[in-house]
Amino acid sequence: MRTQYCGALNASFIDQEVTLCGWVDRRRDHGGVIFIDLRDRDGIVQVVFDPDAADHFTTADKVRSEYVLQVKGRVRARSEATVNPNMATGEVEVYGLEVTILNNAETPPFPLHDNSVGEDVRLRYRYVDLRRQEMQNRLRFRSKVTTAIRNYLDGEGFLDIETPILTRATPEGARDYLVPSRTHEGKFFALPQSPQLFKQLLMVSGFDRYYQIAKCFRDEDLRADRQPEFTQIDIETSFMSDEQIMSVTEGMIRELFQSLKGVDLGEFPRMPFAEAMEKYGSDKPDLRIPLELVEIKDLLKDIDFKVFAGPANDPKCRVTAMKVPGGVNISRKQIDDYTRFVSIYGAKGLAWIKVNDLAAGIEGLQSPIIKFLGDEVTMNIMQRLGAADGDIIFFGADKSKVVSEALGALRCKLGADLELYTCEWAPLWVVDFPMFEENDDGSLTALHHPFTSPNCSPEELEANPSAALSVAYDMVLNGTELGGGSVRIHSSAMQQAVFRVLGISAEEQREKFGFLLDALQYGAPPHGGLAFGLDRLIMLMTGASSIRDVIAFPKTQTAACVMTDAPGAVDNDQLRELSIRVKKKEGNS
Ligand code: AMO
Ligand code: AMP
Repeated sequence: MRTQYCGALNASFIDQEVTLCGWVDRRRDHGGVIFIDLRDRDGIVQVVFDPDAADHFTTADKVRSEYVLQVKGRVRARSEATVNPNMATGEVEVYGLEVTILNNAETPPFPLHDNSVGEDVRLRYRYVDLRRQEMQNRLRFRSKVTTAIRNYLDGEGFLDIETPILTRATPEGARDYLVPSRTHEGKFFALPQSPQLFKQLLMVSGFDRYYQIAKCFRDEDLRADRQPEFTQIDIETSFMSDEQIMSVTEGMIRELFQSLKGVDLGEFPRMPFAEAMEKYGSDKPDLRIPLELVEIKDLLKDIDFKVFAGPANDPKCRVTAMKVPGGVNISRKQIDDYTRFVSIYGAKGLAWIKVNDLAAGIEGLQSPIIKFLGDEVTMNIMQRLGAADGDIIFFGADKSKVVSEALGALRCKLGADLELYTCEWAPLWVVDFPMFEENDDGSLTALHHPFTSPNCSPEELEANPSAALSVAYDMVLNGTELGGGSVRIHSSAMQQAVFRVLGISAEEQREKFGFLLDALQYGAPPHGGLAFGLDRLIMLMTGASSIRDVIAFPKTQTAACVMTDAPGAVDNDQLRELSIRVKKKEGNS
């Protein structure tokens, strides 16, 4: 139906006759001449109809925003005064000869050029929202990325193999989405939280290098970078060390940035988990921000100020300071706002010291807590932090988890608020994760998942599980966890030791993972892998602020689709077939 895309026209087409198909982006009537900006996936071109076009002029006069047209016309140069430098096709326009209305359209539910439209409306009419250039660009970019990924992995000998969506619970730690079985009364499939177990089984089958651009499903609290249904670039290999796995996958990310953004990310630094937590309060530190947390516990053990002395003498606590150069200008009101901000993470306060004039000693400092700390301790803190005039120093004293989360989040917020970024891209690998983390009741959970290989023997693991590290690695970019993986356990003795530490009984092991335990006994090769969050990768590469903006049809914050109205009710017959009865919650009508 067309000879060219609208957005492809330029001076090289002048005097050619073209046929275009697209949507009416805008229509203007300029004293008897009609201008139509015609839009397709490649861009927009201006079409001009004057009354000489006879019937076609009358038709052009009738069209409205978002009508679908076929236009035949001749490309001509615009006069110098009317060249539009903001338009890719701005040097030319199409002199309209014929127009056919292929379809008319209701007035759009929101103006496509208005960037302030609420997300709810955009999601309800997502098919209209996706017409916007920004959204077209993002999804086009996403397609380029997945093509480049396939090419890279294919070049490295990886095979694309699909794994089931109707399956059993997988061990990624979120809540499962369940699907009732009609043929097995009272039983349920779980949608995969990741293809983890299947990809391990593919290694046992000898495929050696697997990848899949795989849909994963997790029923968890949603955020800007979390969707209930998201996509992983899932990878698994046999006979490769952690170093080799990191090298191949880092190579893939570097190549993507090089070829699609012209950015050289360089070699990714490595940071042990313990260092990331200590210095940045996070296992996904944003290294664009030049602020660090400094431990000052030892300086505060003997003071009277209980707020600090208590945690300073408790091994489960941290007392930590963070110096912010230039922060003396932060107002009392802003400090109050930051105090409220850290309280989200459980911090009970946010003590601070402003360094006005260090040469003047204690007199040159301003703070509500110096009187509690005493002059000597205060000056020792100044020295430990290498404080200088113009700094503000913030303090956190509490359970380690609270301090790390609160000051870690404050660090990122200050980085954004004060525009402290020192570079555009800061990738790194976080390594040497603990194998287990402790729950509030003292029991242990696997930090990664229970198939991750510890870097010690089964005996050492069971003797001191809290001290065990795992052979796991996370790739972090600009404070976002882009991907994570590990070398897996390939011996059933080690696997059982891990299950024992986790308190998973032999019965439960068989019930949940029997098939994997069996497979480990039929010649499982040493294997390991990793999965990237594709949506997060595209979000970062396109500068979007949420993964919803890089997914064609995402869910809302409440895990619903406002366009299709899913999840929806089902009729009683369907429920009966599934042997399910829905019990209304009390209070619901
Ligand atoms: P993990 O659970 O770390 O590892 O997931 C891998 C990556 O997937 C992305 N991701 C998400 N993206 C959007 N919405 C979500 N709800 C969501 N959850 C996770 C993140 C994360 O880094 N099977 C293991 C990988 C392995 O060991 O090979 C796994 O799934 O970017
Ligand atoms: P208070 O004695 O409670 O008035 O606290 C004195 C200062 O210490 C205030 O600036 C509080 O914000 C701060 N503060 C209180 N508790 C903590 C804490 N756990 N960590 C850091 N600062 C705190």
